[in-house]
Amino acid sequence: MEARIHKAHRLQGTPPVPGDKSLSHRALLISALAQGDTEISGLSAGDDVANTLRCVRALGVDIRLNGQSAVVHGVGLQGLKAPAGPLDCGNSGSTMRMLMGVLAAQAFPSVMVGDASLSRRPMGRVAAPLCRMGARIELAEGKHAPVRVSGARGLAPIDFDLQVASGQVKSAILLAALYANGTTRLTGQIGSRDHTERLLRHLGVQVEVTPQAISLHGGQALHAAAIPIPGDPSAAAFWLAAALLVADGRVSLSNVLLNPTRTGLLRVLRRMGAAIDERRLADDPEPSGDLQCRAGPLVGVSVGADEVPSMIDELPVLAVIATQAQGTTEVRGASELRVKETDRIDAIAVNLRRMGGVIDTFADGFRIQGPQKLTGANVDSFGDHRIAMAFAMAGLAAEGETRIRNAESVSISHPGFFETLEELVR
Ligand code: S3P
Repeated sequence: MEARIHKAHRLQGTPPVPGDKSLSHRALLISALAQGDTEISGLSAGDDVANTLRCVRALGVDIRLNGQSAVVHGVGLQGLKAPAGPLDCGNSGSTMRMLMGVLAAQAFPSVMVGDASLSRRPMGRVAAPLCRMGARIELAEGKHAPVRVSGARGLAPIDFDLQVASGQVKSAILLAALYANGTTRLTGQIGSRDHTERLLRHLGVQVEVTPQAISLHGGQALHAAAIPIPGDPSAAAFWLAAALLVADGRVSLSNVLLNPTRTGLLRVLRRMGAAIDERRLADDPEPSGDLQCRAGPLVGVSVGADEVPSMIDELPVLAVIATQAQGTTEVRGASELRVKETDRIDAIAVNLRRMGGVIDTFADGFRIQGPQKLTGANVDSFGDHRIAMAFAMAGLAAEGETRIRNAESVSISHPGFFETLEELVR
């Protein structure tokens, strides 16, 4: 599908924000391991979460879905069944990596496959620690999907120094640690999104977290508890951008997840001068609140490695916003962008240049001098949902018409994105 976006002079409304994708994956997977029925509300309707749902069902877990709510009949740590065939994770890195942690501990063998993009992404970062725990995992060419897991003969706890600030790697190890015979301890880059730690605690697991380490003792039972899922801040990011990029822009967003490990973009936008009001709604198991944002002058900003994990998925749209800010925006310490659904640093640069923009790229980031005049052009999502949505935002600020090829990829995390955008500019 090709999407056509035109320059907008006015954009106002209350766009619905889909349920948080990261939390939705975890809620489905972790509640399956609990004893009892877990009610989940606010699930993401995107394709990625549908993949997790299908995989968890294929492991013998009964899930009753009713719109964006679900009841998961937990089978306990030992209750999963061998799947009838390969588990298809589609485009979803979260599905594959977190499932690896659970499947590594099962007595039955399993195979996980993914689409062309997922089959190029690094899986060794998850397989290596799991193998140290005693899992038997084989990767294509030693690093990619398909992932073949042989039946485990019991896992041992490890002390592991995380080298990448990845919520997916950390989660995979913590899920495997539930099955290990002793205490697993993670140190190093442990500051990535902490939804798995919070959700395990919510279901009664003791997880000890200090600034230096996360420790989890294996064998603890999980107990069902209702899981409400607030809106996805990584989706809300595009609507904040929309308000900031259009002269008469103003949006209100209801019940957005405001976990500090996810709100780096809010902090950075405020540093750029953005007017964003926040009203807290809840704190437990996850903080959430309403946001309001309106257009106003922005200045460039520097973002370094310490801030990147809290806004990793928002960096493509930050690049677009930076083209309209006064001064230099530089993002460094973000080499992880190169191993997402596509190489996002390349994708940002190729598309921005097609629109007449100027950007310097580095192995670990980019630099943009603003403000820049953008002109509508043919751009490509490269099959990456966040690139499609970021360049829809660029289209709002550009003269003329912007055509986005492979725009259907928005359904990975934000079905209905273009329909919502049309309503906001009407
Ligand atoms: C996610 C973690 C991040 C993020 C991804 C979702 C998660 O990936 O980019 O969209 O749910 O844990 P990494 O763990 O690779 O940083």
